[in-house]
Amino acid sequence: MAFDQRFMEELLARNDIVDLVGSYVNLTSRGGSYWGCCPFHNEKTPSFHVRPDQQLYYCFGCKKGGGVINFVMEMENLSYPDAVYFLAKRANLPVPEQNRGEENRLRSRLLSLNREAARFFYDQLHSPKGEAVRRYMEGRKITGRNATNFGLGAAADEWDALLRAMTEKGYSRSELLSAGLVVQSKNGGLYDKFRKRLIFPIIDVRGDVLGFGGRIVDKDDPGAKYMNTPETIVYSKRRVLYGLNLAKKSKRDNIILVEGNIDVVMLHQAGFDNACASMGTALTPEQIHLLSRYTRELVLCYDNDDAGRAATQKALTLLGDTDFKVRVLELPRRLADGQYVKQDADDFIKYQGADAFERLLNGSGSGIDFRMAQLAAQHDLTDDRGRIEYAGAAAQLLASLPNAVERDVYTVRAAEAAGITPEAMRLEVKRALGRRVRREKKEQERKDLNPTAARQPRERSIRYENLRSALCEEGVIRLLVLDDSLFGAQPPLREEEFSSPLLGRLFTALWAQRRENGRVSLGALDESFSSEEISHISGILQKPTSLKAAAQALTDYVRIIHEEFQKRNAAGDDPLAAATEKYKRKSNGGMQHG
Ligand code: UTP
Ligand code: MN
Repeated sequence: MAFDQRFMEELLARNDIVDLVGSYVNLTSRGGSYWGCCPFHNEKTPSFHVRPDQQLYYCFGCKKGGGVINFVMEMENLSYPDAVYFLAKRANLPVPEQNRGEENRLRSRLLSLNREAARFFYDQLHSPKGEAVRRYMEGRKITGRNATNFGLGAAADEWDALLRAMTEKGYSRSELLSAGLVVQSKNGGLYDKFRKRLIFPIIDVRGDVLGFGGRIVDKDDPGAKYMNTPETIVYSKRRVLYGLNLAKKSKRDNIILVEGNIDVVMLHQAGFDNACASMGTALTPEQIHLLSRYTRELVLCYDNDDAGRAATQKALTLLGDTDFKVRVLELPRRLADGQYVKQDADDFIKYQGADAFERLLNGSGSGIDFRMAQLAAQHDLTDDRGRIEYAGAAAQLLASLPNAVERDVYTVRAAEAAGITPEAMRLEVKRALGRRVRREKKEQERKDLNPTAARQPRERSIRYENLRSALCEEGVIRLLVLDDSLFGAQPPLREEEFSSPLLGRLFTALWAQRRENGRVSLGALDESFSSEEISHISGILQKPTSLKAAAQALTDYVRIIHEEFQKRNAAGDDPLAAATEKYKRKSNGGMQHG
């Protein structure tokens, strides 16, 4: 969706980057620009750079960057248009009415429809029609107060109760379908998706109702136990966590992740108001990113069955690449009728009580406990071969622990499990550490020897095909942004002459800005540039540039880009030339090393 140019100029002028970023991050001024600890990854020494001259931020650690709009998109987890609205509100700037694009209009219609629907379900719960659901809630010991806290509701045993109520309020058939609240039957008629169910509104961290989950209340109901809103333009299950709207306000210093809606509701009721759930699906990178805004520590408390353990393992792998401190709270199985049965958080609280849960929570070990136990379970420890293999695998795992004390504690435990002496196990871990260090060193050497790889963008889709040309293209862009008076009235290059499609597209967009506004601004690029692309572009701008011999540099850049373009063209037209070209490039590459 396009916003009016003049409006965008005003928006950017009124939202200064230092001011905006400064309201989230502690910034220290140094030589005309600002430094702070990056809000997008965990660090102790500042590598996050804010430049008032370019109105850009860039993190040299995680390589994220952009202008004020990108910053708000990342920080507040907003789409491009929503970030624009956010900044407009911050600057007290009215958004021109014609810019409320069609999609945005539908979006806000669906959000208000969802809000009305939640209200409707809530009212039904407290009316005679909510009788069955109320009885079910009593059976599960959900208090009225907590039900209200979560906005729980009831869908009655009718085909079109919600359909009629919402139609009466002026919502159209197509809006109800788009919100996933009604379903179309074969003969074209509509009926309510949620019927005879306990309703859980799914509310995001901003308080918007994005969708619903519904649980059957009659154990003989043949329908699926849970039913959720399908993906809609406001609801994407990858991006929400049930209960995070409440958990984000918790005073506890971590967040507990559970599997189910009821687990969340019951944990909050028992005083664990820091629980939320990914609603039966595996934890996603989007959810992890969302969580990183509210906590540094996660406690995984999934069901203690095979599925729950697999989910834990998967989450640990994903979280291994992040700066989260992760612990696993393993619920014990419960003995019932002479058999051990699975328990989830709700069961545990019901049978064992909140104090017992608190004890488990305090004692829950780092993810390493869980992984060591997994390893032990995978090997036959009664057998010599199994024990040797276990010791090897455990040593590798232990070598990945950054904290020496923690490493030693677990080394001793692994020794016990493997039935070998602690000394032998320590030696094994030391060897694994050595291998790890050597591997990392080799990796670094490879990178140092091969600067080409290091200069490549991280994102695969924006990899450079022709590095010689691309580095000059970067140079042209840098000069255009830093001092566009170096350029004449006509662009010195055509878009197709750029070897990097991204840089070509960027050049065209910046040139259009220059023509229309007399000014070039990266912060004013629209949403056709993805956040990875903007980050990459912001990085280009951070490379040191001297404007001293800029005019000469520009001429050289343009000449090389032309040369490379002609080579590509010639190579493309004539297979023989292509082969020669390839040969020439190869021999050139060889000579550079000599
Ligand atoms: P569980 O089957 O573990 O249910 O599903 P639960 O949460 O313990 O529910 P109760 O205690 O029986 O009421 C965990 C979560 O997976 C999602 C729901 O969000 C549920 O809370 N789920 C489950 C579905 O989306 N669809 C299903 O058919 C089942
Ligand atoms: Mn349950």
